[in-house]
Amino acid sequence: MKNEKRLITAALTYVNNIPHVGHIVGCHLPADIFARFCRSYGYDTTFVGGSDMHGTPSMVTAQELNIPVEKLTEELHKVHNEIYKKLNISYDIYSNTHTKTHEKVTQDFFIELYKNGYISQGETEMFYCEKDKMFLPDRFVEGTCPKCGFEHASGDQCEKCDSLFSPNELKNAKCKICGNEACIKTSKHIFLILSKGVDRLNSWIESKKEIWRPHVYSEAKKWVQEGLKDRCISRDIKWGFPVPLEDFKDKVFYVWFDAPIGYISITKELSEQKYQDLWLKRDAKIYNFVGKDNIQFHSVFFPTMLIENGQYNLPYNVVGLNFLNYEGQKFSKSKKIGVFCNSILDNFEDIDIDTLRAYLTTIIPENRDTDFKWEDFKNNTNSELVGKFGNLFNRTLNMIKNYFNGNIDYEIKKENLNDLDNELINSINEYPEKITQAFNNVEIREAYKLIMQYATVGNGYIEKSAPWALVKQEKFEEAKKVLFLAINLCASLCIVASPIIPQKVTKLWIEQLNLNGTPTQNDYWQNASKFNISKNHTIGEIKPIFERVDNEKLEKIKQIMANPFVINEYFKNIK
Ligand code: MF3
Ligand code: ZN
Repeated sequence: MKNEKRLITAALTYVNNIPHVGHIVGCHLPADIFARFCRSYGYDTTFVGGSDMHGTPSMVTAQELNIPVEKLTEELHKVHNEIYKKLNISYDIYSNTHTKTHEKVTQDFFIELYKNGYISQGETEMFYCEKDKMFLPDRFVEGTCPKCGFEHASGDQCEKCDSLFSPNELKNAKCKICGNEACIKTSKHIFLILSKGVDRLNSWIESKKEIWRPHVYSEAKKWVQEGLKDRCISRDIKWGFPVPLEDFKDKVFYVWFDAPIGYISITKELSEQKYQDLWLKRDAKIYNFVGKDNIQFHSVFFPTMLIENGQYNLPYNVVGLNFLNYEGQKFSKSKKIGVFCNSILDNFEDIDIDTLRAYLTTIIPENRDTDFKWEDFKNNTNSELVGKFGNLFNRTLNMIKNYFNGNIDYEIKKENLNDLDNELINSINEYPEKITQAFNNVEIREAYKLIMQYATVGNGYIEKSAPWALVKQEKFEEAKKVLFLAINLCASLCIVASPIIPQKVTKLWIEQLNLNGTPTQNDYWQNASKFNISKNHTIGEIKPIFERVDNEKLEKIKQIMANPFVINEYFKNIK
């Protein structure tokens, strides 16, 4: 269904720091590529994102820097926005979760759950520091995981074994602010009753068996089978939105309660019409792109909230990704292990965005964890982008320039086509179709592979047809035919590669192929199987598209990008 409505969301990132390449590859980039494909294909597409302002990570950082958490999150929200812009992440709106709209949507959402009987009240044991005289958020507490024994588990979860637990289960709990023992005190809180709707949730998850990736489906099933415990959704802190109940006015919502509602409120902020079409009706397809550590929240917690609230459309696909490592190790800011996005802002000219996007596409952790390797970056640039893609355009356009003065005047006649020509024409029919399928199944790495194969088909055709030999033999019409077919394949390639390398193909299209419009236009996709270049066409100016990366250049980029963002410095300059 082509006029289908699609809403694409990327997980709302915490703004306690700036993103590293793992966040980009594990969420923003695949969401963007998919959104670009959907627009081009002609789906009625909306792509929303934003910063997750609340939560304790931001509080912890603000406390460490001794600045107000509002200031910290506002500033970092701006930096995040800038980075996604530089990377050409094509959000229709990039907002955040500390807006009036979001406060209202969250509170109304909660009231509905409350009326429907999905909220309970109870006393809960919370960590408390006698010295700091405050309740301690989970992230302000460190202790030993009750399940695996990991010694740096936080108050409610263990990053080593992924299990979640309640305060009295954590062993050796310590206050992270002062290092003293964290004791447990009771406090009144509200809970989301997850157990009540478990059958409805389970049948919804079952209905996704063929749609979700296997690892997402099985993770969701695992949580349901382990039994869902009711979850506390209020916190004794000051940062967040107040719970709209008389007895709880001094408490705020748990960050994971309000954050996913952000998808709804940010859509509303974009447009009331879109909010109604995408969330209040059930026919729009919602795709949530999320990192590995967010799968549980998007496949169990948020869907339960939606089901039991009852007013909203549920996600169609939860596109859960895996983790990205760096040269075989985990990313680490403190050890300067990784690739950090601040450098993209500082040293823009040294880093070609589409070259980077193309490499990052090859390591999207779709079905398993992947590895960022500089050597692979170099190889992808030199052998794929320069060697296959660029080479095809270069030689095709140069021959048109050299043999025919930049003008190609040819009309296809069936009787003049040989087997090689017919094969090529078949490829122009078939490859875009295969690439469409890969994109539609959110198999972006596969799509990229097919795009490169498609370029290889073009190169192979030129190789075998050898227009240079035809020209030597003075078979000019024959040579023209070969170049006419090849340049049409080039135009087709621009369209199908547009979700991944949008800037490059736009430049190619306008400046070198000398065509009208852009290959990234909405609803332009169907032209990928057509001949976009017709009789009597004059090409534009020929320039290399991608630049080779030699070791010297690689070292330079590496140096730049290995520099972590120094948050203290940043806020020193801002104050
Ligand atoms: N802020 C979370 C993170 O960065 C993700 C929140 S996703 C949303 O891990 F669903 F809550 F929006
Ligand atoms: Zn303390």
